[in-house]
Amino acid sequence: MRRIGVIGAGQMGSGIAHVCAVAGLDVRMVDLAEDVLSRAVALVERNLGRQVARGKLADADMQAALGRITTGTDYAALGDCDLVIEAATENEEVKREIFKQLVPHLSAEALVATNTSSISITRLAAATDRPGRFVGMHFMNPVPVMQLVELIRGIQTEQATFEAVKELAERLGKTVSVAEDFPAFIVNRILLPMINEAVYTLYEGVGSVESIDTAMKLGANHPMGPLELADFIGLDTCLAIMHVLYDGLADSKYRPCPLLVKYVEAGWLGRKTKRGFYDYG
Ligand code: CAA
Repeated sequence: MRRIGVIGAGQMGSGIAHVCAVAGLDVRMVDLAEDVLSRAVALVERNLGRQVARGKLADADMQAALGRITTGTDYAALGDCDLVIEAATENEEVKREIFKQLVPHLSAEALVATNTSSISITRLAAATDRPGRFVGMHFMNPVPVMQLVELIRGIQTEQATFEAVKELAERLGKTVSVAEDFPAFIVNRILLPMINEAVYTLYEGVGSVESIDTAMKLGANHPMGPLELADFIGLDTCLAIMHVLYDGLADSKYRPCPLLVKYVEAGWLGRKTKRGFYDYG
């Protein structure tokens, strides 16, 4: 693989662009608006700068990585990519529409991966013209730091497709964990109910935001408390994943906490809106 397309220039898309560029791949990042793309490139530059400051990357390598990233708002720019990774918002309709617009521009050999954190790979694959060349490639946030990539085959994913993205994940320095195509796969099947339970713990007055996070950081050795982590992931994404679990597994244990719903309705989505369980203003 030489050229990777990334659709979506949010935290996940920019992180994926970052690690691919550092690994020597050419990256074409596409999003709807130029200002979103320039913010994403600035974020990549800042995060590469952190690695340089900590002696993990040479300045020349940072400049070379930045030089490998190009951006645009037109899917036609992805026409010569070997693999396109979709990292748009966690909404099935949005993703389906992206695939519909994307595939006419791709070469017949190109692979398509989705960074969905919960939605059925089989269903998304069926919305493309190449279900055999479609796969789930789920990165963790922050992408440059987290070691894991979850790989998920849809029912039609070909073995060669799976092998190609496994090889790529390893080239990016990641460790692969393979999950079957069930709602929210492995990491979020376990992580999100824990976060949702932390919100219930707050909702029921069992503890304050600070006590809940301190309890889990110091009592269970988690690097971030569950509410801090929810703000980091984005409360809208957390809620979307809980809905996929609740709808897909039909079990009341996945019922989204009403307080989580209310925060999302208020537009309190966590760090990205400067307000969630914590205030970042
Ligand atoms: N890009 C590049 N490097 C970054 C970074 C970023 N965005 N954020 C942090 N870093 C680097 C720092 O430079 C530092 O590097 P060194 O160790 O090489 O010096 C290292 O990460 C630690 O950073 P800090 O010292 O600034 O901060 P920290 O020790 O508090 O760690 C953290 C920050 C790595 C984010 C840590 O708090 C953590 O691991 N949190 C949990 C994250 C997590 O659970 N992610 C999964 C979310 S779930 C998910 O992603 C799935 C989904 O679909 C929802």
